Amino acid sequence: MDTASLAQVRGWLQYARRIAVLTGAGVSAESGVPTFRKAQTGYWAQFRPEDMATEEGFRAHPRRVWDWYQHRRDLLAGVQPNAGHAALADFQCRHPEQFTLITQNVDGLHQRAGSTGVLCLHGDIFVDCWLDSPRTCCHIDHAVAGRPPCCDGCGNLLRPGVVWFGEPLPYVTLQAAQKAARVCDLMLVVGTAGAVYPAAGLAQLARQAGARVASINPAASALDDVAHALLRGTAAHMLPALLAAA
Ligand code: OAD
Repeated sequence: MDTASLAQVRGWLQYARRIAVLTGAGVSAESGVPTFRKAQTGYWAQFRPEDMATEEGFRAHPRRVWDWYQHRRDLLAGVQPNAGHAALADFQCRHPEQFTLITQNVDGLHQRAGSTGVLCLHGDIFVDCWLDSPRTCCHIDHAVAGRPPCCDGCGNLLRPGVVWFGEPLPYVTLQAAQKAARVCDLMLVVGTAGAVYPAAGLAQLARQAGARVASINPAASALDDVAHALLRGTAAHMLPALLAAA
């Protein structure tokens, strides 16, 4: 733990009127959720996560991609929010008017920890939507639903309600996240490789607008150059250490 930087960021936190937090897969790592780019295990190790997260990939192999998301949903059903999620929820509870939580995660763990108004840039793995624009016939007969579930009228498929590569982010959510980045005095960037845009651009936006930026990550990330402080530790250690007394 870099105690010098931790004390410094605590100081920024104390005087910040508005705080934005941008989280990525690393915040859920200590709950037992593999980070996005970490190799999958077992059967899924043969596929690149990136190939399972595009519309083309889904259209080419709908059952494989559906089953991969089902596998991840099953995994999430068996994990709990960790001390990092809890520290963020607790801080928001004590400082609701000055706090915005923005996440790239689709796992729902921030919400399960008690965070409210979370700006989910990449959707929600537990919500399905239609692959193609729904027609009047579109419905799912759950008694005979396949993998993926399919409309027996027109064949339209259900897909996970997450943002895939090449797809736009939800407009209103992104606008709200950009506004939070522009007006905050301090942005905490937690557990993201900072490689996927426009999410990673929020840290740059915050810095350009005059905010302090602090990164919590045990490893180097593409946003290290944007950060004023690098807290080299894990989310479940660093977030309580930073936020508990604030
Ligand atoms: P990545 O898997 O790319 O990066 C995870 C980051 O978490 C890395 O920088 C790790 O060093 C860090 N990390 C690992 N363990 C940690 C811990 N215990 N505490 C803190 N940090 C830790 O995940 P993201 O950056 O979130 O989007 O990926 C961004 C997006 O890429 C994902 O939301 C996904 C993917 O495209 C979509 O699916 C649309």
